[in-house]
Amino acid sequence: MYRTHTCGELSLSNKGERVTLSGWVQRSRDLGGMTFIDLRDRYGITQLVFNMETDASLCDKARKIGREFVVQVTGTVTERSNNNPKMATGDIEITAESIDILNVSDIPPFTIEENTDGGDELRMKYRYLDLRRQNVRSNIILRHRMAQEVRRYLDGEGFLEVETPVLIKSTPEGARDFVVPSRLHHGEFYALPQSPQTFKQLLMVAGFDKYFQIVKCFRDEDLRADRQPEFTQIDCEMSFVHQDDILDTFEGLARHLFREIKGVEFSEKFPRMPYEEAMCRYGSDKPDIRFGMCIEDVTEAVKGRNFPPFELVPYVGAISAPGCAGWSRKQLEEITEYVKRPQIGAKGLVWARVEADGTVRSSADKFYSPDDLANLALMTGSDAGDLILMLAGPREKTLTALGELRLELGRRLGLRDASVYAPLWVVDFPLFEWDDETGRFYAKHHPFTAPKPEDLQYMETDPGRVHANAYDLVINGTEIGGGSIRIHDSQTQSLMFRTLGFTEEEAQKQFGFLLNAFRYGAPPHGGIAFGFDRWTAIMGGSDTIRDYIAFPKNNQARDVMIETPSTISREQLKELGIEGRKEGN
Ligand code: AMO
Repeated sequence: MYRTHTCGELSLSNKGERVTLSGWVQRSRDLGGMTFIDLRDRYGITQLVFNMETDASLCDKARKIGREFVVQVTGTVTERSNNNPKMATGDIEITAESIDILNVSDIPPFTIEENTDGGDELRMKYRYLDLRRQNVRSNIILRHRMAQEVRRYLDGEGFLEVETPVLIKSTPEGARDFVVPSRLHHGEFYALPQSPQTFKQLLMVAGFDKYFQIVKCFRDEDLRADRQPEFTQIDCEMSFVHQDDILDTFEGLARHLFREIKGVEFSEKFPRMPYEEAMCRYGSDKPDIRFGMCIEDVTEAVKGRNFPPFELVPYVGAISAPGCAGWSRKQLEEITEYVKRPQIGAKGLVWARVEADGTVRSSADKFYSPDDLANLALMTGSDAGDLILMLAGPREKTLTALGELRLELGRRLGLRDASVYAPLWVVDFPLFEWDDETGRFYAKHHPFTAPKPEDLQYMETDPGRVHANAYDLVINGTEIGGGSIRIHDSQTQSLMFRTLGFTEEEAQKQFGFLLNAFRYGAPPHGGIAFGFDRWTAIMGGSDTIRDYIAFPKNNQARDVMIETPSTISREQLKELGIEGRKEGN
């Protein structure tokens, strides 16, 4: 038997027992008469002690054992004289009687402890060693627990887990596809799914009624902390449902996960905020509602006073930062530089501070009377000690910039506490999004999203006006999931494709299978998909999904451990009919 116990379970209740443990040597300390080894496995760390006086040769053997050697030790559980309350096994140690080396180890390239000296690239190259670190391992364990709880809840609600293919035809989710060349059909390609969207709809046509899948999705897009080229969705679809049925079911899932994983209960229903309100008040379609500091439209109040930055623009918005009236010139300059960064793109920032006596002073004092400024304070709900920050420009762009400013202020003021959870549903998204560059409408969600019935009349004449029963679950400013009620008749689906600029032939070629399926009794249906990596990261208190994926890609979409993407052999290329082909053929 390799072990009688794990390295995480022994306590004073086992005192006097003879035990055998197996694991990795985290570190060893030679104190002359005594040698201590911290033995680690997945479950924890147990201290082993070797005494020179009682067994000199055993102690000598122990001294020669290096970091990350795999060993098996037998000994007696003894009470520790100086116990370590930080360790689960900190009350005991094993007085060793024998130790066997099961395998040796090279010196690891970084220390395998919570605070490691290994940089990101090095840790990724040796990810299997990184995964031995307790904090990384606990992220993966959290992910496992999340997956189990998702399955438990959805199974309990009558959902069936059905797998869908990975070698498919392109799905239009808005990102680029990863493609796989076909050996049997030279010049033809499979696409890896950006999501199982069309398949889950076909499962509804097939009568499966409630479907889910924890599924890998692939998107060739620029990476950020919350994006990976291959990521995992909790993908769900239901038949005979309205938007409310879906929101209620999946609010249930969210409550279940928060309860089981975090011990958090929400007393109120999750707020449901229309997209337009999220944009106007938070400057974002994924508002962080852990804190207030909402945006106020002050355009009318500040115009007409000949203040040049406000006169020539369509929109001026303000945020009131509580308790920041005392900010120094340097702090104001810093925040101005922040909003002028190219990613945010504001031209400048105008401030007004409410002094202790209630008078308002502003960087634009010359143009505004005390009454104007008092009115501004009133409009923005500012009290003595608050700082009003204003940005001006085109409406949408300025709202987005104010949204970024709001998040930055929240960060600086310590209002974005990772241990506080503020979920909400953002609803009533527009069906289409106009793109200036290409001069056409795109589906805001995807082309299978149904227009709100009352807006159907504008589909061809004024698409920008059409709203959808589309919704996102947002937690702490992160889009955790999104979905919609779908189109379920081929006529509306064809109309949708037409509005998006597809010809009848193009639509048939790409989505004929779905349009055909809709001719055989498709039920009304809708669904949602959650970013499983994102949700796990949020539960772990982080924004970086990479930490919650066992073998992630780096921000260049590379796996530096297996060194991929990589070239393939001439023979493989030839078999695939790729060699010698001209680009674009
Ligand atoms: P959507 O494209 O909104 O919807 O994706 C659903 C959720 O998946 C997560 N997500 C990602 N996570 C990590 N890395 C990425 N590159 C990435 N891209 C998306 C987000 C997002 O909210 N088929 C539809 C769903 C539906 O309509 O039912 C879909 O895929 O958390």
